[in-house]
Amino acid sequence: MADTATGAVPARRNSFVYVVAALAALNGLLFGFDTGVISGAMLYIQETFDLTTLFGQSIHPSYVEGIIVSGAMVGAIIGAALGGRLADRLGRRRLILVGAVVFFVGSLIMAVAPTVEILILGRVLDGVGIGFASVVGPLYISEIAPPKIRGSLVSLNQLTITSGILIAYLVNFAFSSGGDWRWMLGLGMVPATVLFVGMLFMPESPRWLYEQGRKADAREVLSRTRVDDRVEDELREITDTIQTESGTLRDLLQQWVRPMLVIGIGLAIFQQVTGINTVMYYAPMILESTGFEDTASILATVGIGAVNVVMTVVAVVLIDRTGRRPLLIVGLAGMTVMLAILGTVFYLPGLSGWLGWLATGSLMLYVAFFAIGLGPVFWLLISEIYPMEVRGTAMGVVTVINWAANLLVSLTFLRFVDVLGESGTFWLYGVLALGALLFCYRLVPETKGRSLEEIEADLRETSLGTTTGDQSDTVRADD
Ligand code: GLC
Repeated sequence: MADTATGAVPARRNSFVYVVAALAALNGLLFGFDTGVISGAMLYIQETFDLTTLFGQSIHPSYVEGIIVSGAMVGAIIGAALGGRLADRLGRRRLILVGAVVFFVGSLIMAVAPTVEILILGRVLDGVGIGFASVVGPLYISEIAPPKIRGSLVSLNQLTITSGILIAYLVNFAFSSGGDWRWMLGLGMVPATVLFVGMLFMPESPRWLYEQGRKADAREVLSRTRVDDRVEDELREITDTIQTESGTLRDLLQQWVRPMLVIGIGLAIFQQVTGINTVMYYAPMILESTGFEDTASILATVGIGAVNVVMTVVAVVLIDRTGRRPLLIVGLAGMTVMLAILGTVFYLPGLSGWLGWLATGSLMLYVAFFAIGLGPVFWLLISEIYPMEVRGTAMGVVTVINWAANLLVSLTFLRFVDVLGESGTFWLYGVLALGALLFCYRLVPETKGRSLEEIEADLRETSLGTTTGDQSDTVRADD
C-alpha cells in the first residue's frame, strides 16, 4: 500500500512483498491439496492393490485404508516437530526449499508406487513436507511482512490451503468417472516445483538474518520489501529486541512466554476439535444423509470448498482492518450456533425436503464462520505472539499439537457417529466451540497493526513489568 508521498518507486518496491508472500503461500496449497485429494483417490487405490495384506501379514482392508489416509498426518506431525528447530537452524527460506523437495519426492513415490507399502512410504514423506510447510509458511511471511499488512499476507497461506482443498475436490470430481489415482496424487509435484524454483529467487527473512548477526543483509531485505523510511525504524526496533541466539524447548517455559504457549496450544486444539476437518474429509457422506444423491453430494462438496475459499478472501481483506479478535469471536459464535442447529436438525426424524436444505445451509454457514475466524486467525496469531528467540520452536510445538488433534478428530469421527449419532456428534463439537469462544474472549490478545517487536515488548511488560531496555537480564533471572 503506497502510504507514502513519494509515489511510483516505493509502490513498485512494496509490490515485491506481495510476490514474496504469494509464492511462500504455495506452502498452503500443498497442505490443502493433500487434505482434500485422498478421499477421492482412495476409491481407485482400492481397485489397484490388494488391501488385505500388509508386509506379508493379513489385515482388515479398512485398517490399510486408514493407514494410507492418516499416513500424511503422521508425517505432518513428524515434519512439524522437526520444522520449528530446523527453521531456526537452516533459516526460513532454506527450510521451505527442503520442504518442497521432500513433498516432490513423496508425491513422485506415490505416483509410481508398485506396492501399497511403498505408497504408504510416499504418503508419510509427503506428510513430512506438509509438516514443514505448515510451520515455515506462516512464519516466513510474518517475519518479512510490513506490520500494517501482515495479517492479510499471512492469511494468504490459509487462502491457499482452502484453494488447495477446492482444487482437490474438483480433481476428485473430474476423475470421478474412472480416474487414475496416480495422476491425482502425482499432481502435487507441480506446485512443489513452482515453490522450489520461485523460492530460489526470494530473500531470507530479515529477522532471522538479523538473529544470525547478518545485519547488513537484514537491512537489504527490509529495503527491498518496505515502501518508505520505515527501514531504519524497523531495524532499530529489531536491534532493541532481538537477541542473537535462538532459544530451546526449555526457553518456551519461561514465565513470560508461558501465557502465549497456553494460548497457542488452546487455539491449536480448538481449531480441530470443533470439527472442521470432519466436514473437509467426510462432506459427501454427511451430505448424503441430508438426502443428496451420490453425484449431487460430490457437487455440493465442491460448493462447500468454494464457500471456504470465498469467506477466507473476506478474512484476508478484513483482518488488518477489524483486527484478529473480532473475526475470531464472531466466527466462533457463528460456528456454535450452526453446530447447535445441525445437532437439532439431525435429531429430528426423516431428514429430507426443507429440513435437508436447512442442514446443508447450516453446514455451509458453519464452514463460512470457520473461514472468517478460527481458520486464518489461528495460523496468523501463532506467527505473531512468540518472541523471536523461540518463535520457530514455539510454532513447531503448537503445529504438532494442531496436527495431532486433526488426526485424533479424523480417527474418532466415524466412531462418534456410531455411538452418539450425527446429532450427538454435532452437539459435542458445538459445546467445544462454545468453550473455544469463552477461551478466546478471555485470553487472546489483539495484534493488529503492531510490529512483531512491539508485540514482544508488550508481552514482556505485561508478564514481567519490564521495558525493552532491561529485558534480557530480567528474563534470565526469572528463568
Ligand atoms: C485450517 C486448518 C486445517 C483445515 C483447513 C480448512 O487451515 O488448520 O486443518 O483443513 O483450515 O480450511
